[in-house]
Amino acid sequence: MSNLAIYLFVIQLILSLDAAPQVLDQLQNGLDYYSYEGLEDETEKVSIKIYYECLCPDCRRFDSEQLVPVMRRLTDHLDIQTFPYGNAKTEEHDGKPTFTCQHGPAECYGNKLHACALDLLRNHTQALLVNACMMDPSQAGRGSDDQALDVCGKAMGFDTAPIKHCATSDRGTQLLEHYGEESGKVGYDYVPYVLINNKVLDPDCSDLLKFVCDAFVAPPRECRAYARELLEHGGSGGGGYARYAGCAS
Ligand SMILES: *[C@@H]1O[C@H](CO)[C@@H](O)[C@H](O)[C@H]1NC(C)=O
Repeated sequence: MSNLAIYLFVIQLILSLDAAPQVLDQLQNGLDYYSYEGLEDETEKVSIKIYYECLCPDCRRFDSEQLVPVMRRLTDHLDIQTFPYGNAKTEEHDGKPTFTCQHGPAECYGNKLHACALDLLRNHTQALLVNACMMDPSQAGRGSDDQALDVCGKAMGFDTAPIKHCATSDRGTQLLEHYGEESGKVGYDYVPYVLINNKVLDPDCSDLLKFVCDAFVAPPRECRAYARELLEHGGSGGGGYARYAGCAS
């Protein structure tokens, strides 16, 4: 080797020694649960609260791209509450509540379908999946209407008639009023507004799973598996770490 080649080699070595531990530190500090070796706590649940309205495009994207995949991985470790009301307004007319919804009357009706599904389906996970199904981009039109509900009922095997009946009756009105009151207590100016253990999820965060995993005291094995995925793909230009970093909590 010429002197120049040796010199360049040494410079390169110094640079790489300097950079590598830094990157690793950064990764591992942010991903404490990667090396977590304590016992899992089967009773620990992370709370997710979602304030949304059924026709808003960002809400529909959030459900299909973030919520459903996270539920698929972690459902037993989550306590999910959803509030289908969003930016609606409630007024009293002749002692009866009436609603004005951001995307018109169709959205008020859709929100009632969501509220009634949550009320009537005994399996809460199923109710959440039904609502996500009604908002899925594959639904005709804007979704969350009778037709969407029927598509989901058929796919998931439940009777949709009681839910439609609820949405057109006083019960639907009562439920929507309730969600309006609960939403008013929180105060937000955009939807979907998402709280993870009562901490606001940055609307730019495209990695709900990372944010949720960070919130566990004793992260379940699904989170450790995910941290490994991020570490493995983050270092090789796969965009894993970049995706993760955008959601720092
Ligand atoms: C509730 O529904 C989910 C999704 O359909 C299913 O995986 C789960 O087994 C159900 N739970 C019970 C207790 O039936």
